[in-house]
Amino acid sequence: MLFQSFVSFVFFVDLKNTRAMALVVFEQSLNLEAPFPMSKPRILVTRAVFPDVLERLAPYFDIESNQEDCIYTEEELREKLRDKDGVFTTPSERVSAATIAACPQLRAICNMAVGYNNIDLDAASQAGIMVTNTPDVLNETTADFGWALLMATARRVTESEHWLRAGKWEKWRYDSFLGADVHGSTLGIIGMGRIGQAIARRSTGFNMQVLYHNRSRLSEDLERAANNARYASKEDLLRQSDHVILVLPYSAATHHTITAAELALMKPSATLVNIARGGIVDDAALIDALRTGRIAAAGLDVFENEPRFHPGFLSLSNVVLTPHIASASEPTRRGMANTAANNLIAALTGGRPANLLNPKVKPKA
Ligand code: GLV
Repeated sequence: MLFQSFVSFVFFVDLKNTRAMALVVFEQSLNLEAPFPMSKPRILVTRAVFPDVLERLAPYFDIESNQEDCIYTEEELREKLRDKDGVFTTPSERVSAATIAACPQLRAICNMAVGYNNIDLDAASQAGIMVTNTPDVLNETTADFGWALLMATARRVTESEHWLRAGKWEKWRYDSFLGADVHGSTLGIIGMGRIGQAIARRSTGFNMQVLYHNRSRLSEDLERAANNARYASKEDLLRQSDHVILVLPYSAATHHTITAAELALMKPSATLVNIARGGIVDDAALIDALRTGRIAAAGLDVFENEPRFHPGFLSLSNVVLTPHIASASEPTRRGMANTAANNLIAALTGGRPANLLNPKVKPKA
């Protein structure tokens, strides 16, 4: 009881927003009289994380933490996980079927991301391992960034800034950095989950038409709330949109959703924005389309094989490049880290994590 009150107090004095309040409620709901008097479960935190999140985990777990932030190879990760009960991962670590098979003690994999293509979910489920992600907490921030990239791409913001910084601005000209209008245009959203819908809602202020393509159609209510978005085939959406934004999850089925064939359908004046995952776009084909003027411009936050990426992008002025930061606002990254921590605590203290991706899993004893 004393321990529980202490944890609640620590979070109460640090309350900054409603997310922090949610953490207090979460801590109280654990109802821990004393945390693991015998031995604590062992966890690995695979990458650097906010120090206060590590402090939250400390009462529950024996922690090996990679605050040095080196990137583990798959073999190094496997070695480190052999004696662990749980792992706090990020999109940079691949937790493969081979790693899962080599780590029989592992009971929970909690990813600090909404995407979880870095984890072999089927292998984890078969091995009785709970897998979680961090949905919802990043929807609005990621939608904001989709718009930032769309605006920067359509209006040539980074290209013109680089030119100015290079000392090339000598006079105003009527045709300097002519871009595409965003207001009044047609926005095509491929992947109309919660982030796609948040992007569509923001388009009302720009008086845009919204087309979307998704595995399944939204209900009429959701379409209405998403600026009256209209369902379209991928091909029709690509032909009709002035700006196309990709927000779909990566899987074998969505690999190379955009190749040379899809780019050939787009308007030559169109822009393409990818805030989803590398691998959804065939980057070599996109470079070719940007170089030849097949489409006007692209804004990319994610790349095939990131953090390495195709060097061809660097020689193009009609592409805006950012290093996978769509969810990177201070409150949202904190919210994601705390959500992953909550999931890990729940999974390894006999609870049911809020964001279980394999709800039918039979957890290991
Ligand atoms: C980030 O890319 C995420 O999936 O949350």
